Amino acid sequence: MTRRKWLDKFVKFSAGIVAAFLSIPSLVMLVVPAFRRERAPWIRVGHLSEFRPNEPKAVTLSYQRRDGWVVRTSRTTVYVVVLGEGKVKVLSNICTHANCAVRWEKGRQAFFCPCHNGYFAIDGSVKSGPPPRPLDEFPHKIEGGEIFVRLQV
Ligand code: FES
Repeated sequence: MTRRKWLDKFVKFSAGIVAAFLSIPSLVMLVVPAFRRERAPWIRVGHLSEFRPNEPKAVTLSYQRRDGWVVRTSRTTVYVVVLGEGKVKVLSNICTHANCAVRWEKGRQAFFCPCHNGYFAIDGSVKSGPPPRPLDEFPHKIEGGEIFVRLQV
């Protein structure tokens, strides 16, 4: 091997090493978000004063979720229930039988699922019908009278 050829290979090899080294941060920035799942944020539902005891109120929440590189806007309806003792529950409006939407029926004091006549009590427990378990309850917190909910459990 001539000196010129050796020098040519050495320069190319060194340039390759430097290029590979410099591309590491870019690759990390490109790949890491694909595997990162953000924890669900706390979403403001409303002030406690907007909800009356024993009168579940439906609230539709709109929020953005990042999943890898994709940012999606989602909408979810929850029921805020202030029980008599001042205890607050944030319940899903999705029936646990076959995922139909439930609605609060004031006259019957129950959540009603029209798909198969399922009934849930005000606290989300099953009253009658085919639902196998209570309505899902979302974690919530109250800060300064404001109710916040975390939608992914
Ligand atoms: S989906 Fe609600 S009772 Fe069947």
